[in-house]
Amino acid sequence: MLKPSLSEAKKRTNKEVLTKSFEYTNLDNLKELGKNKKYFIRTYGCQMNEHDTENIKAILEDMSYTETDDYEEANLIILNTCAIRENVHNKVFGMLGRIKNLKERKDDVIAAVCGCMAQEEVVVNEILEKYNYLDLVFGTHNIGNLPKLLEKAVSKKEIEIEVISGEGSVLENLPVKRDSKYKAWVNIMFGCDKFCTYCIVPYTRGKQRSRNKDNIIEEVNELVEKGYSEVTLLGQNVNAYGKDLNENYGLAELLKDVAKTNIKRIRFVTSHPWDFTDEMIEIIKSHENIMPYIHLPIQSGSTKILQKMGRKYSKEEYLTLFDKLKNNIKNVSITTDIIVGFPGESEEDFNETIEVVEKCKFDSAFTFAFSARVGTPAYKMKDTIDDDVKKQRLNKLNQVVNKYAKVANDKYLGKTVEVLLEKESLKEGFLSGYTDTMKLVNVEADKSMLGKIVSVYITDVKTWSLNGELRS
Ligand code: 5AD
Ligand code: SF4
Repeated sequence: MLKPSLSEAKKRTNKEVLTKSFEYTNLDNLKELGKNKKYFIRTYGCQMNEHDTENIKAILEDMSYTETDDYEEANLIILNTCAIRENVHNKVFGMLGRIKNLKERKDDVIAAVCGCMAQEEVVVNEILEKYNYLDLVFGTHNIGNLPKLLEKAVSKKEIEIEVISGEGSVLENLPVKRDSKYKAWVNIMFGCDKFCTYCIVPYTRGKQRSRNKDNIIEEVNELVEKGYSEVTLLGQNVNAYGKDLNENYGLAELLKDVAKTNIKRIRFVTSHPWDFTDEMIEIIKSHENIMPYIHLPIQSGSTKILQKMGRKYSKEEYLTLFDKLKNNIKNVSITTDIIVGFPGESEEDFNETIEVVEKCKFDSAFTFAFSARVGTPAYKMKDTIDDDVKKQRLNKLNQVVNKYAKVANDKYLGKTVEVLLEKESLKEGFLSGYTDTMKLVNVEADKSMLGKIVSVYITDVKTWSLNGELRS
């Protein structure tokens, strides 16, 4: 049993990050493990987790498991979890209750928890105490070991736990079963060293480790060859890409090189305002295939709260960067993340956040009530805000955010935009997809158009989507 340790997870050393290549050690034996068996996997949280799930699915299918979307008919249930806020904890523990019930009714069910919650010492202790009918817990650094772990979990009665709390390595060549045939996630870095005081990610995902640029470019080239149109370069803080490699090669250089592969669209998430350089702005505005879309979390509009959050920029510095992006990148769409109810947030601080939203008129924003995470500095802050005040602030903020999301969409009325059609929409005969500014568009079109980038004339505008007609 290898349990997570918060004190280990906090450590940062100068040890060199190892890049390893994933290989099956015993696939011939393991190939039969999932024969005539089904797996169900549920993913909570961010794009990182979604992409990890794509790796997990591929490993399971190499072991002959087939996917089901009904957990009751599965022989293997995996919950890939998120630790960022308490509400996911509650959902996961609720699901574990249902799994217990299923295991009582049905033999031959293996249940596993992985992802960021598995990295939390408190969660694993709780699992051992109250949910020890689970068969397997594995961490974000242990996905490469999944085949062996499953083999153990299937053959033994007690719960198998393997969660490394170290700084992490870089694992190349994991198999992947991508959800889409048209757009793909590409990790460019793992972990985070920013240690914003509210955030658990630096403890659950390890230290900042950038992938070698050649491996990234090779992956994008392969995707182009397979017919993919769009890549999203993924990392907790992509603007810091390369800083840990000391090769004088950062996100600006990487974007330039990825733009040279013939991929039609490139975007990147998530950006930290602290590391956004003028050079990056130059590269984005001068490449047709880099999407004019930037997710730039502000978190709060009050410099006092930003300081307490450890964000290392002031409201004014954020606004200066915001204006620079708007003035330099044509039609850029900017979205953000905002937390309300951080400890010590006064009514004035909150009003400053509202004022900033009024000023920036974000295309959209993900808004959250502060959730105290064990092990983070903010967990120990005393000046907490009542839940009902948090709720009121969140409601008020959402009203303002929604107002400006509609204002941003209104600008598209009567315009013709390029849309990558990616799925059938709920309405019969319609397809949906995104513009290069990440606006969701619904359009009447034949299924044979899926995967194509088409011109659409916008006829109708809603808060969260646009409707239009195909133009040739
Ligand atoms: N409470 C509330 N929101 C949080 N986020 C991160 N940690 C917390 C927390 N403890 C939000 C931030 C981040 C987004 C992914 O989740 O806004 O940008
Ligand atoms: Fe968390 Fe801050 Fe790192 Fe983002 S930059 S993952 S909010 S610590």
